[in-house]
Amino acid sequence: MFSTFFSRVKMLRVIWYLCWWDVADTFVYNNIHHPSKLAVGADFHCFKNKIEPKWEDPVCANGGKWTMNFSRGKSDTCWLYTLLALIGEQFDYGDEICGAVINVRVRQEKIALWTRNAANETAQVSIGKQWKEFLDYNDTIGFIFHDDAKKLDRAAKNRYSV
Ligand SMILES: *[C@@H]1O[C@H](CO)[C@@H](O)[C@H](O)[C@H]1NC(C)=O
Ligand SMILES: *[C@@H]1O[C@H](CO)[C@@H](O)[C@H](O)[C@H]1NC(C)=O
Ligand SMILES: *[C@@H]1O[C@H](CO)[C@@H](O)[C@H](O)[C@H]1NC(C)=O
Repeated sequence: MFSTFFSRVKMLRVIWYLCWWDVADTFVYNNIHHPSKLAVGADFHCFKNKIEPKWEDPVCANGGKWTMNFSRGKSDTCWLYTLLALIGEQFDYGDEICGAVINVRVRQEKIALWTRNAANETAQVSIGKQWKEFLDYNDTIGFIFHDDAKKLDRAAKNRYSV
């Protein structure tokens, strides 16, 4: 999958973009390949420069997120491919993406892709579909608006599914 996903030229772009994506956190060097080795309860993120994985961040305020869940220890490859897809600008609507977050919990690991304009269905659906395609992920994934999550917490319903 890796070789079809990335041509050599794209790999060079990946390396170049490492310079401006906010990936200089220590986790990149130590843990990027192995979220399964992270402590339970850990959250890591890779966001574009100066965007924070917070609802309050003005860039993300009207956004939402797609989420994939995995059994404990099964997210390593998908996390890596998610980061590479972001950094390598694989998404048609890449400008709509704020970044990715991984949560490691006792029973499962979750990767979320945060986007900017939740109401823009065309962009969200395209991003969700492409993300699944890149990762070869077979389960249905859902998109939750940050606004719904703020008001309803866990009761927030998926607005889009792919
Ligand atoms: C992911 O979440 C769905 C819905 O909550 C659940 O049915 C499924 O078993 C979960 N998968 C894993 C691998 O945890
Ligand atoms: C959705 O987002 C794309 C990319 O930013 C933009 O070209 C398009 O006009 C937007 N559509 C709507 C309905 O806002
Ligand atoms: C998705 O399904 C294909 C074919 O059924 C399988 O080979 C692949 O391992 C599955 N991928 C995941 C992430 O479960």
